Amino acid sequence: MSMEGRTCVITGSARGIGRGIAQHLGEKGANVVINYRSSEGSAHEAVDAIESAGGEAVAARADVSDRAEVEHMHEVCHEAFGPADVLVNNAGITADEQFTDMSREEWDRVMDVNLGGMFNCTQVFFDDIWNANEGRLVNISSVVGKQGNFGQANYATAKSGMFGFTRTIALELAKGGSTANCVAPGFTATDMLESVPDSVLERIISGIPLERLAEVEDIAAVVRFLASEESSYVTGEVIDVNGGMDL
Ligand code: NAI
Repeated sequence: MSMEGRTCVITGSARGIGRGIAQHLGEKGANVVINYRSSEGSAHEAVDAIESAGGEAVAARADVSDRAEVEHMHEVCHEAFGPADVLVNNAGITADEQFTDMSREEWDRVMDVNLGGMFNCTQVFFDDIWNANEGRLVNISSVVGKQGNFGQANYATAKSGMFGFTRTIALELAKGGSTANCVAPGFTATDMLESVPDSVLERIISGIPLERLAEVEDIAAVVRFLASEESSYVTGEVIDVNGGMDL
């Protein structure tokens, strides 16, 4: 499943799942744009790791919720590698609170990054993906978008919103021969889970048939398939990567 010569932009890829996706794609020959919001050091480490594995990468700072910054990232991509073939909307945040205590600010913040960021990046890179040979959009949603989760009304709403968005963009891209799909990871061992108490994590793991959290590589392998030319007849789908949580 070579990604040779394909230019891939992965939002929020200085760490966690995004970084795992970037590394996988880079090792398969892709030109990778590592997007970061503030952790410049980690972004440069991610670039170095891809280059050490023989790939090519560039770091691009942009807060995905800021349209002008996303346009700047688009310019960085074009200057380094030309138009993007693949956009992975991975950047996401949580702001957990039981619903009755959730502030409108916590609601808006999660919508601005998780949905507003996806809107900005997809619109700015839309023509690139449309014009690409086998262009790909991959959106990173969550099992929480399907099942809901206590204290995450904002996040669950944003993550399930990605499903409708992906199906619609899949229709709008189809005439150009490009695809759009969602990946819905289960609970994955990254910094995002740091705030989850051990007792809660144990309860989560006990409900997973495969009896472990996902590793970033589990998610990255599926994204790599959806980003590759081999997935050309798969579009508008949500691929669950959750260890069997909904069995
Ligand atoms: P993480 O918190 O380790 O990484 C998220 C990355 O997004 C960070 O590098 C962060 O700086 C970046 N980011 C946040 N806001 C940004 C913004 N406005 N502009 C640009 N970058 C921004 O999280 P993780 O676990 O790697 O999550 C990645 C994606 O996977 C997220 O969309 C998350 O919702 C989703 N996910 C994570 C799961 C988990 O259990 N870790 C489970 C299911 C989905």
